[in-house]
Amino acid sequence: MGYEHILVEVEPPIATITLNRPKVLNALSPDLIRELTTALAEFDADESIRAAVLTGGPKVFAAGADISDMADQGPVDQLLRDQTGRWAPLAGFKKPLIAAVNGYALGGGCEIALMCDLIIAGDTARFGQPEINLGIIPGAGGTQRWPRTAGKYVAMEVMLTGAPLTAQRAYELGIVNKVVPAEATIPVATRLAREIAAKPPLAVRMAKEAVLKAFEAPLSEGLASERKSFYFLFATEDQKEGMRAFLEKRKGVFKGR
Ligand code: COA
Repeated sequence: MGYEHILVEVEPPIATITLNRPKVLNALSPDLIRELTTALAEFDADESIRAAVLTGGPKVFAAGADISDMADQGPVDQLLRDQTGRWAPLAGFKKPLIAAVNGYALGGGCEIALMCDLIIAGDTARFGQPEINLGIIPGAGGTQRWPRTAGKYVAMEVMLTGAPLTAQRAYELGIVNKVVPAEATIPVATRLAREIAAKPPLAVRMAKEAVLKAFEAPLSEGLASERKSFYFLFATEDQKEGMRAFLEKRKGVFKGR
């Protein structure tokens, strides 16, 4: 399908989405979010895609929700169009989603990066929640995902001052997997996506699910769920192939079955 606000590149087993509203620093309009969630739903349904990269391109990731679109909205407008609830499918993507972040990842831009499973940051990346300066707060998960990843005090700093963190500080806090020169961000993220895409897809899917469960459930529930997925994977052809290949000292060939 054709998109207006994103670019989609499909090179199985990976797909790359580039946010594409450069004139407004990739501000996240409702139309852009609709396209983004539609593209991800297509990738989820496409068995030839095993991992995806989300980027804003070489200069900017996204400077947040589109302020010009929201400025005159009232609470009922926001509720009826479910302003940020419509972003939720991003966090529900079942395959690994890797953010490749250069430049500003602010407000909703930072929140969608935090919905990804791994983050590769260019040295120009800046992560922040400047909503406080607009008289609002983050509405797409920022107040919840920051404390769960970087801890309470960093989250408070980010929410209350609105000042962005550098890529290096984000790395030190563990919210970024790797900091690389800006020109390497997308290639490094793509390489990582390809590496993960070569793993047994059902195990990848369950590993992602299990880690995310740790943010939702008490430990006993998370452990029980992990155990069930672990047992389940012994029903897959890929488990048989993976273990046989190890014993036969060859590389496994995985089918996602
Ligand atoms: N929504 C709508 N438009 C945005 C935007 C946003 N979140 N962020 C940037 N833009 C637009 C600007 O209005 C400007 O448009 P114009 O050229 O028509 O005037 C264009 O993008 C370039 O932005 P500009 O502010 O001129 O760039 P800058 O390099 O001086 O500053 C930022 C960059 C990111 C610091 C600044 O744009 C900014 O603070 N953006 C808003 C961040 C924010 O509050 N996000 C949370 C939203 S809830």
